[in-house]
Amino acid sequence: MQEFSFPYQQSLKTHLTQPVQDLITAAEKAADKAYAPYSNFKVGAALLQSNGVILTGANHENASFPAGICAERAVLGALDMSSGHTVTAIAVSYKTDKAGALPPLSPCGICRQTILETQLHQRTPIAVYMSNPGGEVILVEDARHLLPFHFSSEFL
Ligand code: THU
Repeated sequence: MQEFSFPYQQSLKTHLTQPVQDLITAAEKAADKAYAPYSNFKVGAALLQSNGVILTGANHENASFPAGICAERAVLGALDMSSGHTVTAIAVSYKTDKAGALPPLSPCGICRQTILETQLHQRTPIAVYMSNPGGEVILVEDARHLLPFHFSSEFL
C-alpha cells in the first residue's frame, strides 16, 4: 500500500499575518451577502490576487436546489483568468444558526475541483484558508492537497 499525506496548519485567525487576517475577514463579511433561504448556511469566499486585489463571493441558492452555487465558485466566476494576475490565496468562512461549535469550512468537492483548475491554469499554488466563526483556521498551502488523484485537462 502507498500512502498519501500532505502538510496543513491549524491556527487561530488572530495568530496569522495581517494580510491573511484581512482576507479571512473579507470572507466572513462576504457571508453576509449570501442568499441562502433554504439551508440558512451562509458561506463567504475571498480571493487574494497577486496585485493585492481581493474579490469576494457568497453562496446563492435556488428553489431548484442544484441550480444554487457555492461561494467559492461564485467568486471564481468573477475572476478574470486572463488578467495576468495570479490568485495567491482563497479564504472561506461561514455563518449558521446551528447551535454548537462547528469546524472550519471545508470546501465541497466541486469547489475543490474548481479552485484546482485555477491553480493549474496559472501554474502557481493557491493557499486555502478554511475558517469557522470562532476564528479557528486550517491552512493548506497548495490546492492540490485537497484533491488527490484529481481529474484535469491532461486527460482531454
Ligand atoms: N456551500 C458553499 O457555498 N461552499 C461549500 O464549499 C460548501 C457548501 C453552500 C452551498 C449551499 O448553499 C449551502 O452551503 C449548504 O450546502
